[in-house]
Amino acid sequence: MIKLSWNLRHRPYNAQAILLGLFFFIILVKLYLDLTANPSFTRKIMEPSSKNSDASNRTIIVVTPTYKRITRLPDMIRLANTLAHVKNLHWIVVEDGYGIVPAVRELLEKTNLSYTYMAHKTAKGYPTRGWYQRTMALRYIRSSWSKILREHDAVVYFADDDNAYDVRLFTDYIRNVNTLGVWAVGLVGGAIVEAPKVVNHKVTGFNVRWSPNRRFAVDMAGFAINLKYILNSDAVFGKDCKRGEGAPETCLIEDIGLDLEDIKPFGYDATKVQDIMVWHTKTSPPEIEQRDEPIDSLGYFVEY
Ligand code: UGA
Ligand code: MN
Repeated sequence: MIKLSWNLRHRPYNAQAILLGLFFFIILVKLYLDLTANPSFTRKIMEPSSKNSDASNRTIIVVTPTYKRITRLPDMIRLANTLAHVKNLHWIVVEDGYGIVPAVRELLEKTNLSYTYMAHKTAKGYPTRGWYQRTMALRYIRSSWSKILREHDAVVYFADDDNAYDVRLFTDYIRNVNTLGVWAVGLVGGAIVEAPKVVNHKVTGFNVRWSPNRRFAVDMAGFAINLKYILNSDAVFGKDCKRGEGAPETCLIEDIGLDLEDIKPFGYDATKVQDIMVWHTKTSPPEIEQRDEPIDSLGYFVEY
């Protein structure tokens, strides 16, 4: 009797528990079905880092000159978000100014990336387009590579702050540069795309509109050099580059002692339509309505 009354009292409660359990089970099954029905969401995020090239221990050293302009912070946020997807990367950011900028340092600090942030105001006589900052980065790499690398194996790439980069540029192209790598760049030199001319896997010239007679007619975004060749030379960006009709790339590559035969081209397969992995986008200064009173940034940090 005692047992029966116990059962009677608890039976409704048990039925509720079973129903509740069933309800949660159905929700879990639905969640699982939803997730497996749309696998591209997670796969897309994982894809770049699961490529075999990323398994390499080789470090990518990215050199970015930057300076105070109204669009610099949004540009740097975009670049930081791209680089955050790349393993084994050291980012050298060189401020064209008398000191580092706290907002940029905080941005770098939040990325979890390995980085060096330093300031070198463009010296007299140098073009104010990042030349001096890249030179200072090259000097730093030569004197301090052992501080920033785990292994003596790296590739150096000059990434301006305002371009648009596909993560695969780093994981599939730059990581695999043994000597000198080149690839297509979109929206540059008055063309929709500039690209190396490739015959039998060898670069024979460059498809460019602007200044086609340069030996290395390639934009800064379109090549990377293995650290070995940087360390075996003292070439830097000078104050001028006549061989480049004012553009610095060919002077640096020639001065390092590299030749056309040293180039390994990436992403040139003529049998199918290729993706452009880097775009020479330029952020134009936004129109800010001018008033007599000072600009009010409403308590938010902006650079202008
Ligand atoms: C183009 C190329 O993409 C550059 O790689 C090349 O150095 C430059 O031309 C050149 O002719 O020398 P562009 O897009 O026209 O560059 O110029 P910016 O993007 O304004 O400047 C290139 C880099 O230098 C940027 O990372 C920028 O932040 C930096 N910079 C620019 C400075 O550090 N200081 C400056 O006063 C101006
Ligand atoms: Mn630019």
